[in-house]
Amino acid sequence: MDSLSSGKIADVLQRLHQEAEAADAPLMQTYAGEMTDPEQVMSRIVESETKDLKGLYHGFAGNFLNVSPQFGRFLYMCARACKAGCIVEFGSSMGISAIYMAAALRDMGGGRLIGTELEPGKAERAQANLAAAGLADLVEFRVGDARETLKPGVGGDIDMVMLDGAFTLYLPVLKLLEPHLKEGAIVIGENAIEEAGGYVGYVRDPRNGYLSQSLPFESWRGNEFTVKTK
Ligand SMILES: C[S@@+](CC[C@H](N)C(=O)[O-])C[C@H]1O[C@@H](n2cnc3c(N)ncnc32)[C@H](O)[C@@H]1O
Repeated sequence: MDSLSSGKIADVLQRLHQEAEAADAPLMQTYAGEMTDPEQVMSRIVESETKDLKGLYHGFAGNFLNVSPQFGRFLYMCARACKAGCIVEFGSSMGISAIYMAAALRDMGGGRLIGTELEPGKAERAQANLAAAGLADLVEFRVGDARETLKPGVGGDIDMVMLDGAFTLYLPVLKLLEPHLKEGAIVIGENAIEEAGGYVGYVRDPRNGYLSQSLPFESWRGNEFTVKTK
């Protein structure tokens, strides 16, 4: 039995998905009219990140912006499939995706997840949510800009990376982690976009030591799935 199917972790996730839906409904309503034109939405976000990244995400301090249950299960399965012992997440928000990945660590007998979050209030809530799920001992949240908080490394090699923070920073964050990625490591770029900072072009160029393609499920804008090949 896995801990997503029943028990405390499953219950906490169900509660958090409900809270998230209620908290993010007004924001989703705002974007609803534009969702048919993802290019336009994304170019607006990229423009706002370029102008004032901190201000933009501070404006989302009360929003979860979380992965769906389906995507969360996919993260869990990735962690199990690569037998992850060390996972790094860029952009943890309230901790929903972190719970899916930490649940995989727990079900494999242990490991470490290093989460990063710009907004201190969100990191506090993420910590509390991981504790409610009984997973706090597996997770360390680094508060502040991941470009700084991940600079000292994570004290070992990395099996899996989840990129879900500011879109324009996927490439600089990957480059910080790259020296520590194990061969065969999985990197997931949630809504990775071509136009934002060259991430997609970089991981799709085999000369950089990756094999990468878009995941054909559940994204209005494309999720990038990447494996470190050397
Ligand atoms: C889409 S949300 C993450 C959702 C989360 N992964 C989940 O599924 O529950 C993106 C988060 O990245 C954070 N973020 C943006 N830029 C960041 C940065 N430079 N360093 C750390 N966190 C950042 C934002 O504050 C926001 O909470």
